[in-house]
Amino acid sequence: MLKGLLFDLDGVLTDSAKFHLQAWSQLATQLGITLTPAEREGLRGRSRLDSLNLILAAGAQEDRFSAAEKTALTDQKNAVYLKLIQTMTPVDILPGIPQLLKDAQAAGLKMAIASASRNAPTILDHLGLAASFDAIVDPATLHRGKPDPEIYQQAQALLGLQAAEVIGFEDASAGVAAIKAAGQFAVGIGDARLLAAADYLVKDTAALQLSQLQAAFAKESG
Ligand code: BG6
Ligand code: MG
Repeated sequence: MLKGLLFDLDGVLTDSAKFHLQAWSQLATQLGITLTPAEREGLRGRSRLDSLNLILAAGAQEDRFSAAEKTALTDQKNAVYLKLIQTMTPVDILPGIPQLLKDAQAAGLKMAIASASRNAPTILDHLGLAASFDAIVDPATLHRGKPDPEIYQQAQALLGLQAAEVIGFEDASAGVAAIKAAGQFAVGIGDARLLAAADYLVKDTAALQLSQLQAAFAKESG
């Protein structure tokens, strides 16, 4: 029986994923690295350090920087990102999300945030959504980033639920892989070709409806 919803944040509740990609592209250009569209897409959902390492690998610069230098680079990216998100308001919540959260609350479902971003609490404040969730995974407690299932397992545990009782929502293929590796039902939001591993796919958040999600979940659970 469906008892909880686990949400990624960037690209699911709001379009902050585009700001992450913009800030990373700026850093890549500074390092003399041109990312292909697939490499850019592959950054979605990845932790801060994993993202930098993927960019360096794309430019065959894996050994160029020390750990301290990498921290300076991720700090620099984060400063650019923080500037980009500072004007966010509740208007920036993606279509369909307010109604979904309202319906889920009315249905008694518990809700958690499973975002790799250390900026998630700041964004939730900007969006006026901080009080809508029962739990937020602290990414600083994680050993491995998406596609590892750890973040979704922890979100489920924080709600006191089992894998068979939750739905995870993701815009990233690494995120859908994490949900599936946690043994949970995955909703993919975005390009069907990239998110084919999801149990249920929608083009965008406007197409998310709790009644339809409940029906698809019940069918899958048999
Ligand atoms: C994820 C984003 O939610 O958080 C990634 O999809 C980002 O793009 C990651 O790298 C870490 O975010 P932050 O804000 O801690 O640098
Ligand atoms: Mg995302």
